[in-house]
Amino acid sequence: MPGEAVVLDGVWKVYPGGVTALRGLSMRVNFGEVVALAGPNGAGKTTAMRIIAGLLTPTRGVVSVAGANPRAAGVGLRRILGYLPEDAGVYRRMRGIEYLRFTASLYTGDPREREEMIRRAVEISGLGWEDLNRPMGEYSKGMKRRILVARVLMTNPRIVLMDEPTAGVDVEHAVAIRGLLRRWAHERGAAVLFSSHNLMEVDVVADRVYIVSGGRVIAEGRPQDLKEEFKAETLEEVYLKAIKSPAPGGVVNAG
Ligand SMILES: Nc1ncnc2c1ncn2[C@@H]1O[C@H](COP(=O)(O)OP(=O)(O)O)[C@@H](O)[C@H]1O
Ligand SMILES: [Mg+2]
Repeated sequence: MPGEAVVLDGVWKVYPGGVTALRGLSMRVNFGEVVALAGPNGAGKTTAMRIIAGLLTPTRGVVSVAGANPRAAGVGLRRILGYLPEDAGVYRRMRGIEYLRFTASLYTGDPREREEMIRRAVEISGLGWEDLNRPMGEYSKGMKRRILVARVLMTNPRIVLMDEPTAGVDVEHAVAIRGLLRRWAHERGAAVLFSSHNLMEVDVVADRVYIVSGGRVIAEGRPQDLKEEFKAETLEEVYLKAIKSPAPGGVVNAG
């Protein structure tokens, strides 16, 4: 497995309607680290995630995921990539446990492997048996998010992409999800990229962060280094300073 799981170089995205969502975004994610894509609404986080997942073609620039172009890559990449879309929905009439069984059955024909996957997913979801036996249409937003996170991680992906994984999730379960992201990278060696507009969350979860605004990286680095560089107490303060003037070292992302 190469060290670099995800590489974006000078990526631009202009939507058919004419909105420019990304303006020369460059970033990388290595195996074994948790990287955050942080920034305000409309910064381009979801667009970048969808490009990395192979759902969108960039207008310009280079994208490489596990050494391949995600638009051209086939089943091999699908098997190692776990993607949680921002707007992922659930099958409203399906019970949670049925959904996990169904996902496992799509992935493997081996009953032992399937059982192990389901066991892992149940644990990750943090849902009790009563809730797992309810139709997912009855789940709260946070419960839906948790079962979707479990669905993504149950197949043990080597590259994890999560678009706002903790959106709508209560404190206790958000903390659990953050712990999972870190364990997946640090114990299993996966490459983990997640997006968040919550800079306090990013500060505690991410090994490195790309702060984006208007489709550009305005600051990047380890949270601790960024705070020192910007003479800031928090990442929120880093962000507020960075939108006024780019990093002293000069984040080169001009397009
Ligand atoms: N399908 C789309 N068609 C046209 N414009 C879009 C589409 N998706 C997102 N945009 C625009 O692209 C910009 C970046 O959006 P997005 O990637 O969703 O940002 P974020 O996830 O950081 O909130 C916004 O101006 C948004 O309105
Ligand atoms: Mg988004």
